[in-house]
Amino acid sequence: MTLRSLRPLQRVVRRPALVVACAFATAAAAVLVAGCSSARRGEPLVSAPQLSPDQQRGQIVFSQRCYQCHPNGATGIGPALNNKPLPAALVKTQVRKGLGSMPAFDQQHISDDDLNALASYVAVLRKS
Ligand code: HEC
Repeated sequence: MTLRSLRPLQRVVRRPALVVACAFATAAAAVLVAGCSSARRGEPLVSAPQLSPDQQRGQIVFSQRCYQCHPNGATGIGPALNNKPLPAALVKTQVRKGLGSMPAFDQQHISDDDLNALASYVAVLRKS
């Protein structure tokens, strides 16, 4: 390869601003595309086949009543639920009585059956 044939390349490389702008535009486009086609969008919190019917019921209750403060069992407005053992009795007491800024949920909002299902679902969320 002769020196002459390398010149066009040198010209491009000599414009770092252009290279940076191109890299930025490419990165921005990649972020946009990734953001729009998130593989997780629309997926259930935990893939359905792993859950028993009872746990699936608990998952629905969780998404309606708990998800806003404990997203996927992770830290949100409330503390993480997926990083410690949470015996069913503790979950149920917490839900019925509330604590601090966590509201209490009575039978009108979460029936006893739903609460049992909810407690078994919270146990599934545990990651560590
Ligand atoms: C409005 C926000 C909010 C909602 C809704 C909510 N929580 Fe909470 N939760 C909290 C906060 C805040 C705490 C910490 C309370 C404290 O210790 O003062 C908490 C604590 C807990 C704890 C104890 C965690 C620990 O580390 O000991 C459990 C279990 C729990 N929540 C389960 C639930 C379940 C199940 C639901 C759905 C029925 C729910 N929460 C709905 C805010 C919320």
